[in-house]
Amino acid sequence: MNDRATSPKPDAAAPGTRIELRRPDDWHVHLRDGEMLKAVAGYTARQFARAIVMPNLVPPVTTVAAARAYRERIMAAVPADNSFTPLMTCYLTDDIAPAELERGHAEGVFTAAKLYPAHATTNSVAGVTDIRKLARAFEAMQRIGMPLLVHGEVTDHAVDVFDREAAFIERVLSRLVGDFSGLKIVFEHVTTAEAVDFIAAAGPNVAATITPHHLEINRNAMFAGGIRPHMYCLPVAKRERHRLALRRAATSGDGKFFLGTDSAPHAARAKETACGCAGIFNAPFALESYAKVFDEEGALDRLEAFAALNGPRFYGLPVNAQRVRLVKAVAAEAPRVPDTLSAGGERLVPFHAGAALGWRYEGIVGA
Ligand code: DOR
Ligand code: ZN
Repeated sequence: MNDRATSPKPDAAAPGTRIELRRPDDWHVHLRDGEMLKAVAGYTARQFARAIVMPNLVPPVTTVAAARAYRERIMAAVPADNSFTPLMTCYLTDDIAPAELERGHAEGVFTAAKLYPAHATTNSVAGVTDIRKLARAFEAMQRIGMPLLVHGEVTDHAVDVFDREAAFIERVLSRLVGDFSGLKIVFEHVTTAEAVDFIAAAGPNVAATITPHHLEINRNAMFAGGIRPHMYCLPVAKRERHRLALRRAATSGDGKFFLGTDSAPHAARAKETACGCAGIFNAPFALESYAKVFDEEGALDRLEAFAALNGPRFYGLPVNAQRVRLVKAVAAEAPRVPDTLSAGGERLVPFHAGAALGWRYEGIVGA
């Protein structure tokens, strides 16, 4: 198996090509808190109208009051002239009260709830140890139409790290979908052909988000000439055949697949260390990155569905009225992603650091 990241470029757009689409939403992002939040929120708000904000803070966001307060801090961190709306999520724990989920949803605070299997990823120690404990919560969510967002990896260390998503489908997700057939489920940041096949075959209440990095890199990226901590995230990037399956799914026009960056900033020193954190910070050039992929696949006409239509339809929310513009750069003028960005005295290394992206985000049309 060859794991080189190569892509066919059938009908690439000509330099200077402009595309406009409805302003997209990011259906999965980590905005953090404190100084990091202040440094990163503007990048997401600059491109996206809304974002589903992950609740894996320390401590996690498990109550309506905590989500309300966090939403306020996010709004304070976004430039005042921006119409960005953060959509909040509740972090599910073994003992989450269904009444708290229902109240948060009814009061317009919780858009969805996030299932982290305990110890699966960053700040997941308080996550769920056994999903059977959540049957009452899932029943309530199914009844009120509140989506369940799933980090889909088993935590069994006997399972190879590259197989944990596929094992999760077999051991957990297929049963969950069967037991709660009316529950809206988003399989977050899918990374495998198995996940793509599962979603494509499931009912209309099951969907998936796809990140820019899983469309761009395979597992070789983590080991190119040495260990590359900035290419490490969870679920970890897989073989080339999986990346190609993700590209086909994202650009297929199938409404079950939509944009979720999983932008996950960590200070460079927390990644460039003996035990580095998982997470790729892609927010500053997220749309350019997706546009590059859709262009390479000859599917720019499907970018709007993936980025701005499929997500709202699944969540039952209106599409955005504003439009944004992207331009394919002439090679010599292609914007270069900075090597590092600063965040409250810390260094952040963005996805595509140092590279020239072929697309330029020109902002909201008419703004
Ligand atoms: O790479 C990741 N980073 N995956 C996750 O699931 C969590 C995220 C984070 O919060 O850093
Ligand atoms: Zn995430």
